[in-house]
Amino acid sequence: MDNNRNIFASKIGAILAAAGSAVGLGNVWRFPTETGEHGGAAFILIYVSFMLLLGVPIMVTEFAIGRHGNGDVSGAFVKISGGKKGWRWMGLLPVVSGFLVLSYYAVVASWTLYYAYEALLNGFAGKTSAEFQKDFEAFSSDSVTPVFWTVMIIALTCGIVALGVQKGIERGSKIMMPLLFIFIFVLVVCSLSLPNADLGLKFLLLPDFSKVDGGVILSAMGQAFFSLSVGLGCLCTYACYFRKDVNLMKDGLSVASIDTLVALLSGLIIFPAVYSIPDLRPDAGPSLVFVTLPNVFQQVFGDIPVLAYLFSLCFYLLLVMAALTSSISMLEMSAAYFHRNLHLPRSLSAIVVSVVCVVLATFCSWSFGDWREVKIFDMGFFDLFDFLVAKFIMPIGGLIMCIFLGWVVDEKVLRAELTNNGTLKSPLYPTFRFIIRYVAPLCIFLIFANELGLFSYLF
Ligand code: PFF
Repeated sequence: MDNNRNIFASKIGAILAAAGSAVGLGNVWRFPTETGEHGGAAFILIYVSFMLLLGVPIMVTEFAIGRHGNGDVSGAFVKISGGKKGWRWMGLLPVVSGFLVLSYYAVVASWTLYYAYEALLNGFAGKTSAEFQKDFEAFSSDSVTPVFWTVMIIALTCGIVALGVQKGIERGSKIMMPLLFIFIFVLVVCSLSLPNADLGLKFLLLPDFSKVDGGVILSAMGQAFFSLSVGLGCLCTYACYFRKDVNLMKDGLSVASIDTLVALLSGLIIFPAVYSIPDLRPDAGPSLVFVTLPNVFQQVFGDIPVLAYLFSLCFYLLLVMAALTSSISMLEMSAAYFHRNLHLPRSLSAIVVSVVCVVLATFCSWSFGDWREVKIFDMGFFDLFDFLVAKFIMPIGGLIMCIFLGWVVDEKVLRAELTNNGTLKSPLYPTFRFIIRYVAPLCIFLIFANELGLFSYLF
């Protein structure tokens, strides 16, 4: 039916859309938070190793499955397995994951939108560090204001998704991704010229392995999966819209390189800035970019208010764009299913998913305030959703997809996808196949087994 429009028009559009999904708050907010809490450079080394060893191969796995599906994720698993209908249920993975991930991601995304608005109105001028802390706590625990901004961010996301694959997702990514890079480079240069920036650099570059334990390793794996958007079927969904001449392996490596670069550059923006003020700490946790940074901007550029204004505005606009390019990929995961399988119009599918996500996101937002005491498995809604997505569904989803592509799918089909039917040389193909058959499943299993304490029974 509308297959022609449901395809990225250009190869660069496909890369930018996938990179847009990967680059997001996971790079600019979650990466510095995790790095700060887990000891800096040592965490980064483990994270980058997971990106290469697991992230890229799983991303290429998702690309191969999705593109073979030719527009339909749920059909993709059946089609690429040569008609094994039992795999149809895997098509539900992106649908369910889309709801879960967008519902809590939208909460942090809404904070970025609110902070961008505050920055625009010059709302940070003249505040002290204690006031920033108080304001953030008051805002995030309020039961109405964050929900309003969550509705705004989900509505923006919905608007872009409703416009369609080319006019919405591809065009949005083509505009926002280059802008994002411009903002990042300007901010890195400013940050590196701050006093004591070298201390921030040391934190990022000199590893301290004494803090590394099983939990840190699981977090680094979770961060690698989250940052690359792999394991949930999100990239399968986008790959359904890839043209047949896209080089899956090369594009996977390009997207992962862009993603890692943005994460490291975000570290270069944030840690030198944090160290430029003596009593700030890099392990301030999730509030790092909402409490610590506005304070830094005010203190460092106190004498030149216009710079403080511009720096804050650029930074929060950057966060908003990064969040949007990712949130559209999340909404698309679930909306595409309703559009393709239940034959709802694209805009209606996007609206239905958005409404459900607003409700779930409200629960997540309230878990910072009125519902602070409501716990499931000892976690509030926000933490529960983050745990389920990053530490559970993503690695398990990645594991199942590797086993599926490595062991269930006919080798000839896999080779045809990765070499574009023999028209491309793919020197990395044997390494890729070895990783998805043996290395990735074993690694994921061992890390889980360690977390569940299985080894303590054995040794
Ligand atoms: N990779 C995105 C980020 O780093 O912010 C988050 C994300 C997008 C996770 C899409 C999962 C997903 F399916």
